[in-house]
Amino acid sequence: MKIQEAKYVMSNSEYEKCPPPDMPEYAFIGRSNVGKSSLINMLVEKKSLAKTSQQPGKTQLINHFQINNAWYLVDLPGYGYAKVSKSEREKWEKMIGDYLYNRENLMCTFVLVDIRHKALVPDLEFMSELGQAGIPFHIIFTKADKLKAYQIEAQVAAYAEKLAEIWEVVPQMFVTSAEKHEGRDPILLAIETYNGTFSPGSIE
Ligand code: GTP
Ligand code: MG
Repeated sequence: MKIQEAKYVMSNSEYEKCPPPDMPEYAFIGRSNVGKSSLINMLVEKKSLAKTSQQPGKTQLINHFQINNAWYLVDLPGYGYAKVSKSEREKWEKMIGDYLYNRENLMCTFVLVDIRHKALVPDLEFMSELGQAGIPFHIIFTKADKLKAYQIEAQVAAYAEKLAEIWEVVPQMFVTSAEKHEGRDPILLAIETYNGTFSPGSIE
């Protein structure tokens, strides 16, 4: 799929105020600083459409971007940032939970994980919640430029093994580097396939 147009639409803290759910939508989620915003920029080939930062906690709201006038990419705030207070964390959980559970045009979510880490409990717990809510998800490994090819292979295999303990069918996994601009096409292909199954008429 070619990206002809990618534009920022709006930022919200409430899912009710998001754009009308008349186009298929894909949300990027994961721990703070994992590279969600960078990956979105890489996918749409724009340097700073989504705001990135070396400091965790940069993305604070539900950010909608419209692609090719046909679908939405959503950049979400990260979880697991140690420096936030309990009340901040609860606010985050409510905002993200309400969005994920109620957004009817959400085709799937992409859960991002840093390829350098072993499977982390908060990520696994988050995936379990998605599974229980019936929200399809795929895994995107980020920052692959930080490892050598054989290390990438080992990390992916170890992650798949861990997931196989929990899931009957291991979710689809993608390896990416926003830095090196790698791993873009398979993700766009997955999105294109989902786009083909979207029918706004089925939304109530
Ligand atoms: P929050 O919005 O704070 O939750 O973070 P985020 O997940 O959106 O991460 P962001 O895209 O802002 O990137 C965080 C840091 O990781 C930045 O310093 C990026 O430059 C860096 N980064 C992101 N992707 C990659 C990558 O593929 N390779 C390398 N080496 N660094 C990356
Ligand atoms: Mg971000």
